[in-house]
Amino acid sequence: MPDTITITDDRTGKTVTVPIEGGVFPASAIRELDPSLFVYDPAYLQTAACKSAITYLDGDNGILRYRGYPIEQLAEQSTYLEVAYLLLNGELPDSTQLAQWKSDVTSHTFIHENMRKRFVDGFHYNAHPMGMLVSALAALGTFYDDAKDTDDKASRDKQILRLIAKTPTLAAMCYRFSVGLPFVYPNNDLSFPANFLNMMWRVGDYNVDPRLERAMDVLFILHADHEQNCGTTAMRVVGSSHADPYSSAAAAASALYGPLHGGANEAVVHMLAEIGSLDNVPAFIEEVKSGTGGRLMGFGHRVYKNYDPRATIIKQTAYEVFEVTGKNPLLDIALKLEEVALSDSYFIDRKLYPNVDFYSGLIYQALGFPVAMFTVLFAIPRMAGWLAHWQELLGDKEQKISRPRQWYAGVEARDYVPLAAR
Ligand code: ACO
Repeated sequence: MPDTITITDDRTGKTVTVPIEGGVFPASAIRELDPSLFVYDPAYLQTAACKSAITYLDGDNGILRYRGYPIEQLAEQSTYLEVAYLLLNGELPDSTQLAQWKSDVTSHTFIHENMRKRFVDGFHYNAHPMGMLVSALAALGTFYDDAKDTDDKASRDKQILRLIAKTPTLAAMCYRFSVGLPFVYPNNDLSFPANFLNMMWRVGDYNVDPRLERAMDVLFILHADHEQNCGTTAMRVVGSSHADPYSSAAAAASALYGPLHGGANEAVVHMLAEIGSLDNVPAFIEEVKSGTGGRLMGFGHRVYKNYDPRATIIKQTAYEVFEVTGKNPLLDIALKLEEVALSDSYFIDRKLYPNVDFYSGLIYQALGFPVAMFTVLFAIPRMAGWLAHWQELLGDKEQKISRPRQWYAGVEARDYVPLAAR
C-alpha cells in the first residue's frame, strides 16, 4: 500500500499526490491544488504546526516520553534539573555536564532587587500569584539588554539559564507578597526543589523534609513538557515573531492560567470541596452527565483518550506525600469520583479519564500550598518545556512568523451610515 495521499479538487479535476510520513501529510498539497484554498481546522484538532523532537505523546495508549525516555523512568530515577537539561539539549548530561548545569542554574537564582522592591510592591495586596507571575516574567526581561538578541546562541543560552533559575524565585516572591511575608532569598546550598520549598516556607527554622523535596521534584519532572499544548503553542506563536523569551514565556504562562489548561487543578479542588461528601458523588456525576453541573474537572484531555500516565505517577506520589503530611480529606471523594466515572458509559464512551490535574491539587494542598499557587507550581517546571520548544522553533528553517488564515463569516461590503441616520 503506498504511503501517499491523493487529493482531487472536484471543481477543476486537478489532482495532487503527496507522501504521508509519520501519519502526517504536508498542507502544501492544498496550496498546489489551489493557493486560495484553505483548511478549516478550529483549535488545530487535525493540524501539526511543527516538527518537534522533544516530547512523544501517544494519547490512545497513554504513552509519554521526553526525548525518547519514558516518563515513568524519568519520574523514578531522574531529577527535574537533569530532565530540563535533557529537554533543552536532547541528551542526558554526563556527570561533568550535569555538575556544570547545576552550578550554572544555581548561580542564577537571584533576581534584581528592583523586581522585589519596586515591581512586586506595586501589586494590590490580594493579587493572584499567577497573575503576578505572568507579569513578573515579562518584567524580568526588561532587566536584560541582551534578551532581544534571539539570533545569538550565546544570548539565547543565557536567557534560558536565567528563566529556568529565576522562575522559582519569582514564584515564591509572588506567594510571599500575597500573604504579607518577607521575601526569602535563594539558598544556593540547596537542591532546586528544596531551594524553592525553602523560599516558600522559611519562617525562622525550616528544614525541608527529603521525602517532600523528592515529591516536589517528581511533580516538576511530570510537568516539564507536554508537546504542543495551549501554553507551549502560545510560546511558539509569540516566539515566532522573535519577541524576547521573557515576553514569550509570559504569553505561555497566560495560556496556562486558564481553567481549561493549568488552572484545572485549582478547579478540581474547588469541585471536590463543593461535592463535600461521598454521598453526594453519584448526584454530582448525574449533573455532569446532564450538563447542569459543569464538567468533571481533572477528567478528559484533548490528546489522551486513555489514563494520563502522569496521573498514575501523581496518584502514587500523593500517597507518599500523605504519609508525611497526613491524608488530604478530599482524597476519598476524588477516589470515589474516579471509580464512579470510570464505570459509567458517559465517560467510557467519550474516553474521559483522569488527567494530570485530577490528583496534583490534592498533593499541593497537602504540601501546604494555597489553591491560588497551583498554576504557579505548574509554570515553574513547564518553563523547561517552553524554552526547549522556543529554541527548537528558532532553529527550524521551515518555520516563519505564525499567522493562520481565517474563514471570513462577516457581512459583505456596505456603506458607512452617519450617526444621525442610524
Ligand atoms: N466532564 C464531562 N464531560 C466532558 C469532559 C469533562 N471533564 N471533558 C469532555 N467532556 C465531554 C464533552 O462534553 C463532549 O461531549 P459531547 O460529545 O457529548 O458533546 C466530549 O466529552 C468531548 O469533549 P471536548 O470538549 O470536545 O473535548 P476537548 O478535547 O475539546 O476538551 C478538555 C479537552 C478541555 C481537557 C476537556 O476534557 C475538559 O474541559 N476537561 C476538564 C478540564 C480539565 O481537566 N483540564 C485539564 C486538561 S490537562 C491540562 O491542561 C494540563
